Amino acid sequence: MTILDLIIKKRDGQSLSEEEIRYLINEYNEGRLPDYQMGVLLMAIYFRGLSAKETNALTLALAESGEMLNFDSLPKLVLDKHSSGGVGDTTTLVLAPLVAAAGGPVAKISGRGLGFTGGTIDKLESIPGFHVHLPVERFMELVKENNLAIMAQTESLTPAEGKLYALRDVTGTVENISLIAASIMSKKIAAGAHAILLDVKTGRGAFMQSREEAFELAEILVRIGKDMDRRIVSVVTDMNQPLGYAVGNALEVNEAVSVLKGEGPGDIEELSLILGGYMLALGGTARNTEEGREKVTRLLHNGSALQKFREMVRCQGGDDGFIDDPSLLPQAAYSEELIASKGGYIREIDAKRIGNISVMLGAGRTVKNEELDLAAGIILHRKVGGEIQQGEPLATVYGNDREKVGVAARALDSAFTMGKEKLEEMPPLIYGVVPPFPS
Ligand code: URA
Ligand code: CA
Repeated sequence: MTILDLIIKKRDGQSLSEEEIRYLINEYNEGRLPDYQMGVLLMAIYFRGLSAKETNALTLALAESGEMLNFDSLPKLVLDKHSSGGVGDTTTLVLAPLVAAAGGPVAKISGRGLGFTGGTIDKLESIPGFHVHLPVERFMELVKENNLAIMAQTESLTPAEGKLYALRDVTGTVENISLIAASIMSKKIAAGAHAILLDVKTGRGAFMQSREEAFELAEILVRIGKDMDRRIVSVVTDMNQPLGYAVGNALEVNEAVSVLKGEGPGDIEELSLILGGYMLALGGTARNTEEGREKVTRLLHNGSALQKFREMVRCQGGDDGFIDDPSLLPQAAYSEELIASKGGYIREIDAKRIGNISVMLGAGRTVKNEELDLAAGIILHRKVGGEIQQGEPLATVYGNDREKVGVAARALDSAFTMGKEKLEEMPPLIYGVVPPFPS
């Protein structure tokens, strides 16, 4: 069958065999299948879906499109975490050093922003000098010696996934449960971690908007992980409003440093401590999640996690001066405030709208390989449940394009829903865990 035959087969709702999926991914990886054909195949998959078998096949084909790392010679289980994608989700930059400080080791391959969500690699690139592209040998060496390394996909690691990810980002084909599962798990499998924690986001600012879909994704991810002999747990967490106050690359790096200094924001700290507890329990560094949580809480508050973060920045070529002096991060030339036109309580902050506005500002991409404005983004001054008086700033917009900053500040108003009444209950951070833990 030709590539065209296989596209038509999927378009018409038939299943592709393991060999056919492998063939398509290989051809794409080698540059013999052009973006326009892969784009329509992705759209066919978006509408037709993939079976469990097809999803496993896609995961493996993507993982095996490059080198597969192996940490079996290390005395400890290697850990990894991944978020299904959110807005202002700075968790990795806190959680990875936290877990590494507790005895890790953490080996993480991260992505760039996708759609309206941010990506850890873009955030790390706002650190002066930081190398997100490491030779695989150096990555493995850092995991062994320092318990921590975070890097981008390379030509040698899941290259086909990297190309596919960038193409999905700009073809409206991100929000498919099987494509998301295969994308995430292929990177986890290739990166060689033995124990994997998945933070599955749900809500307005997540790809899985309904809780039901999020739990379905959580199940699929766990199933793939178990089929591939990994220890794995999915935690389904809230993404209705952005996490923390900062959205945007340099702004979020600065926010992560603040959490590592014990200065909050509280939601990111709380989520990092909970997920840290799971990771330590999963990897056997703690007997259970409570003990894990106690451990990471201590390491956050005694400065060990910040020290680990500093070491990671240095080991990956970065200048760690920004930790003490945030003005060393990329700075925006322009800023504008969104002023509350009436007083009241914040009932909702639409994370997707905030994410889309930050993309428009240049913090994310609308075409493949677009260069970012690393300083661009939004700082919220209130979160859901907060009170505001008329005339106070709700948020500040930052960027290097004056016109966009103005447009964004005006557009931002529609992301806030206000009410007169105080909220009775704060939205939860966590909805559940798959499988029930410990399993
Ligand atoms: N995160 C990923 O790595 N891939 C997706 O497709 C979505 C979120
Ligand atoms: Ca944030």
